[in-house]
Amino acid sequence: MAVTTGDTRIPFIAGNWKMNLDHLQSIAFVQKLAWTLRDANHDFGDVEVAVFPPFTDLRSVQTLVTADDLQIRFGGQDLSAHDSGAYTGEISGAFLAALDAAYVIIGHSERRQYHGETDELISEKVAAAHRHGIVPVICVGETAEDLEEHGPSAVPVAQLRTALEGAVRGQEIVVAYEPVWAIGSGQAATSAQAQQVCAALRELLVEVLGDEAAAATRILYGGSVKAANIAGFLKEPDVDGALVGGASLQLEEFASIVRFKSHVGTL
Ligand code: PGA
Repeated sequence: MAVTTGDTRIPFIAGNWKMNLDHLQSIAFVQKLAWTLRDANHDFGDVEVAVFPPFTDLRSVQTLVTADDLQIRFGGQDLSAHDSGAYTGEISGAFLAALDAAYVIIGHSERRQYHGETDELISEKVAAAHRHGIVPVICVGETAEDLEEHGPSAVPVAQLRTALEGAVRGQEIVVAYEPVWAIGSGQAATSAQAQQVCAALRELLVEVLGDEAAAATRILYGGSVKAANIAGFLKEPDVDGALVGGASLQLEEFASIVRFKSHVGTL
């Protein structure tokens, strides 16, 4: 498990592949990523790395990670709120846990937008993840309209407040702040914008979970993250990593994001 105690939060770079790369491609990609990071002497205790492939890839990724004893971690992009039964097309947290998935993304804006996921359902999914010992990566974020109407942090804070109702106290969570207008648009938030909302999210964590848990919880920024802007985000006190979409599919770019500490003159 990731060690996240006190305010010594280990930066976390997570690659959300979305609906890209089949199981054969996933093996080639993870293998090359491992080689690239090994050649660069990457310290996984210094910056944690995880990939989130499609469900059909997970067994292949698990087999590779186990066989080669890789430190790259992995998780699902979603899970069912239910554990088993007549839910055609759904994936149980029990199945993800059986494949050693450490994490699961919950409430990504694409799930909210295209699959009608509500804050209440997301809260149930957080509970399901915790039932199976999987760390939920809880995604929150405002649309451009929300931003205009409610300002920067009201919507993400409200989304997180409901999602946390499903969280078991004492179990790890990761929060990902992803402004919907920044996802896949090439138009990332500024690091100051990300910091402002991540600070508001941490305040909510203090209120709901207490000081210690809030200080230990990693809050990621997501939305058009690339090698050229990652170091700026990670300089901010309340941004502890990134959830990377498009750039996580480009090997060199993703490896460079993981190695943000080595970006000369940017940190
Ligand atoms: P992007 O996606 O990096 O392609 O903007 C981020 C995400 O949706 O998690």
